[in-house]
Amino acid sequence: MEVVIVPAPDDAAVLVADVIGRALATVEATVIGLATGSSPLGAYRELVARCRRGEISFAAADAVLLDEYLGLPAEHPEAYRTFIRRELTDLVDLDPTRLHGPEVTCGDVPALCARYEALLARLGGVDVQLLGIGADGHIGFNEPGSSLGSRTRLKTLTAETRRDNARFFASLDEVPHHVITQGLATIGDARHVLLVATGAAKAGPIARAVEGPLTAMCPASVLQLHPHATVVVDEAAAAHLQHAAYYRSVYAGKPDWQAL
Ligand code: F6R
Repeated sequence: MEVVIVPAPDDAAVLVADVIGRALATVEATVIGLATGSSPLGAYRELVARCRRGEISFAAADAVLLDEYLGLPAEHPEAYRTFIRRELTDLVDLDPTRLHGPEVTCGDVPALCARYEALLARLGGVDVQLLGIGADGHIGFNEPGSSLGSRTRLKTLTAETRRDNARFFASLDEVPHHVITQGLATIGDARHVLLVATGAAKAGPIARAVEGPLTAMCPASVLQLHPHATVVVDEAAAAHLQHAAYYRSVYAGKPDWQAL
């Protein structure tokens, strides 16, 4: 795992936008995996600004979602497809028909999960998958105990995750209990995984994911097995990393982030 410690959340946003921008410029028909939640918002703002300045283009790209709530009407502002359209894809030149997510309107959950896996395969896999991390170490909505070999499926959110996500809803009662999420093995198929975490609340899960044992109890620790996983953290989220000085020494003085 590459761990890049940057001074502040804005620096993390720039770095993430650099990696995605480079993929858009260099990979034909780029497939970008998008996360929702707060962690990627700075990067999305940066990508929108760069697209408006004509520096990057999503015109030849596909975008795929990590997960989607079950039980929210499609037009609900917190449905993940609505969220990502509002925060990114409607604001850039992505063809709206090339935004993909689990189609949660169909009642046959195993069939819709299999269709989503088939779609990801048809697209040729994900070039860069952006991730956040939950307080309990989840990525996507693979909660603790998730199989490290899991694929897209239905998951029940933990009480902790529902409480964390209640800030986006009028009340805790409105937070769905269930989601469809890419599995840990599905996420691991991405050619480059880019996890971004900022703020002190992420220091514990980041330390467990990066330096703790590989365990289903911290699902993000599965990224230790990934051939190209980059963890971008600000100083606050890096606070519990035992090897922070080493990670800093690896990236200190690099003229750019080409190594990522
Ligand atoms: C969102 C997702 C989740 C979030 C995680 C962190 O699509 O899959 O894993 O990335 O819950 O959320 P924030 O960034 O809001 O702290």
